[in-house]
Amino acid sequence: NRQSRIRNFSIIAHIDHGKSTLADRILEETSALTKREMKAQMLDAMDLERERGITIKLNAVQLAYKAKDGETYTFHLIDTPGHVDFTYEVSRSLAACEGALLIVDAAQGIEAQTLANVYLALENDLEIIPVINKIDLPNAEPERVRQEIEDVIGLDASDSVLASAKAGIGIKDILEQIVEKVPSPQGDPNAPLKALIFDSMYDPYRGVVAYIRIVEGTVRVGDKIKMMATDKTFEVIELGVSTPKIVMRDELSVGDVGFLTASIKNVKDVHVGDTITNAIKPAAEQLPGYRKMNPMVYCGLYPIDSSKYNDLREALERLELNDSALQYEPETSEALGFGFRCGFLGLLHMEIIQERIEREFGIDLITTAPSVIYQIETVDGESHRVDNPSKMPEKKEIESIEEPFVKATIMTPNDFVGPVMELCQGKRGDFIDMVYLSENRVNIIYHLPLSEIVYDFFDQLKSSTKGYASLDYEFLGNRPSKLVKMDILLNNEKIDALSLIVHQDFAYERGKAIVEKLKELIPRQQFEVPIQAAIGQKIIARSTIKALRKNVLAKCYGGDISRKRKLLEKQKEGKKRMKTVGRVEVPQEAFMAVLRIN
Ligand code: GTP
Repeated sequence: NRQSRIRNFSIIAHIDHGKSTLADRILEETSALTKREMKAQMLDAMDLERERGITIKLNAVQLAYKAKDGETYTFHLIDTPGHVDFTYEVSRSLAACEGALLIVDAAQGIEAQTLANVYLALENDLEIIPVINKIDLPNAEPERVRQEIEDVIGLDASDSVLASAKAGIGIKDILEQIVEKVPSPQGDPNAPLKALIFDSMYDPYRGVVAYIRIVEGTVRVGDKIKMMATDKTFEVIELGVSTPKIVMRDELSVGDVGFLTASIKNVKDVHVGDTITNAIKPAAEQLPGYRKMNPMVYCGLYPIDSSKYNDLREALERLELNDSALQYEPETSEALGFGFRCGFLGLLHMEIIQERIEREFGIDLITTAPSVIYQIETVDGESHRVDNPSKMPEKKEIESIEEPFVKATIMTPNDFVGPVMELCQGKRGDFIDMVYLSENRVNIIYHLPLSEIVYDFFDQLKSSTKGYASLDYEFLGNRPSKLVKMDILLNNEKIDALSLIVHQDFAYERGKAIVEKLKELIPRQQFEVPIQAAIGQKIIARSTIKALRKNVLAKCYGGDISRKRKLLEKQKEGKKRMKTVGRVEVPQEAFMAVLRIN
């Protein structure tokens, strides 16, 4: 029967090991599209540019594969987001599969995200098929990598495919292994409906589009359905699959992977990880593993042109429709005026949202340095969740402060154990463990404050290991810390948007570094500008921006006019990202200065 010929799988890999390239090859091989239709990296629909044109994310495609045994199999290839910020989404995507292709770069070998993804796949009971990719590279060492997969992950890699996604080597073998090794979906098509929502998006015409995997039962157009987490009911308007052309269906049954629309206007009614059931004949319980996502990183977003405040609000409303993990609320800053404090899953998530606001909505933003959430108990017995350093209560009112910690796993070649430990130590890390994965590869485990990771940890890790180390982390919980608020004064005025929270023992160092950095970043003004760092009333560091001496145009007197115009334009360009704070013109980079100091 049809169900026994369905194979649902994902591709998992460390970044750059060739996931998208292999997905393209698989699409070609299963001739879902003619070559002409086949745009490179079809599955990468979240590409900021391309996204505007495409209303259905190509995150799950149905493919037909004629195997050596003469049968035609239905494959569902489910895409997973590739970054730690989205671990939960990765896990839900994997929960929609029975198998996973594990791509390992034949030159790089196993890296942190390889392992992290393997753990997620194992948690979801998936059959893992190792594929050693990029064997065409001159420095490929497929045998060493094969051994590494066996030693480090403990998978049998003896018959793993040696492939080159780029050169099209080994693709048929991979497809045959999917047929042989990935189990077909189990489940009863006549049981009450259980459909896992593994992704969703908002389409202005059809409302929320839910991407689902049918685990039990059957869903038909016109059915009354219920979201088990929110108890909301809807009527199914459309069902379909993407091949990756959109094909509408009257029903989806056990093992099918496709999308559903039901005139759902609010994205908050559809949670990734929730179960859809039939409202009239409901399932007794929902599928396991539903978890609500909470933001971990906050920052302020302010329009440079304050008349764009309402546009910014509209932009956030629109983005929220697509992204249920995004949070925002209005906030005001003495320095920056009216804006929003926004919560994100992590730094990448934050950057994506900022970029989309600027590109898609044309609003230039000032963003303040990211902050984690501090849990503060005050002497009056109240507790506060502080997501903005400038909102931290006065020192004398504080009883205790806790900050979020993460367990960081850093995978590195032996040679860099020293620099990695030095870096973690400098970031207030607690050494936990060091595990040799193979002769030349070590996993170093530290407990670190999330706030230190949010700053430039990743860049520093890369530069101190020549790019060889890789990082994965998970949230541990809150822990008490000796933290203080540090204020920054420009021209003797306290600038709330520059306040930050630092560890007592690092306060002087940080203060000194930050005033020096600000001196570099803030251009000279017509007058001298003192920069000071203060804790409470006490100034702990200071520097001075000297006054501008010459008019920039002075040099051009008598020179040709085009040169003069160019200079003026250059100045204007520079001004675009400036905000006047008090009497001082401050560029965007200055608000991020704290991210750029060691
Ligand atoms: P992210 O989408 O960034 O996570 O990366 P990915 O894992 O999807 O990797 P992608 O397919 O974008 O490939 C990364 C780089 O490796 C690209 O420059 C590819 O052209 C290259 N690449 C992929 N497969 C092969 C291969 O078999 N051989 C060689 N030499 N290069 C490859």
